[in-house]
Amino acid sequence: MTYDPGAEAPQFAPPIDADRFREAMSRVAGAVHIVTTAGPAGLGGLTASAVAPITIEPPMMLFCITKTSSSAARIMKNGVFCINTLVAADESLAEIFAGRTGHHLEERFATGTWSKLKTGAPVLETALAAFDCCFVEAKEVSTHLIMIGVVEAVEIASGGDALLYTHRKYQNLLVD
Ligand SMILES: Cc1cc2nc3c(=O)[nH]c(=O)nc-3n(C[C@H](O)[C@H](O)[C@H](O)COP(=O)(O)O)c2cc1C
Repeated sequence: MTYDPGAEAPQFAPPIDADRFREAMSRVAGAVHIVTTAGPAGLGGLTASAVAPITIEPPMMLFCITKTSSSAARIMKNGVFCINTLVAADESLAEIFAGRTGHHLEERFATGTWSKLKTGAPVLETALAAFDCCFVEAKEVSTHLIMIGVVEAVEIASGGDALLYTHRKYQNLLVD
């Protein structure tokens, strides 16, 4: 099913209290990524932990984005995105792309060193791994979109500690 902005989203009665769900989710440790886009609709990017691989063959990944994010429309219009998995030293970049420093859209790229691979979406040179994707489809689920892409190219760092987010704060995962 493809994303139809005019279609009504399915409604679910909340089976548990939202705060309790948030509290439970805060215990889950997740890697921190910056998802970027570039193209005719302009630059965009956000910090995201709701990222997952889907299939190896073909290589496909997904991330979840709130529909109100200024980057959501740009990603779909540009038809490309890159998932950049952050090292611990890039915590400040995670804050910038989470919108916590007042920087918007293209302004966020003033920090960090950015290049590109195949699709033209910005690739963070210090990333642990970068997954350069062509956008395939979006599935609307309540307040969010599940964005699905096929991986066209990857960049892999030789080392570096991982940046995690758990218990509502950043943690470093030391890697041997
Ligand atoms: C650690 C962390 C993880 C986040 N994960 C997500 C996510 O998976 N999906 C999402 O839509 N927003 C996520 N956010 C919030 C977005 O980064 C933030 O709402 C957005 O970038 C704000 O920018 P915008 O106004 O351009 O959309 C996360 C924030 C942080 C700090």
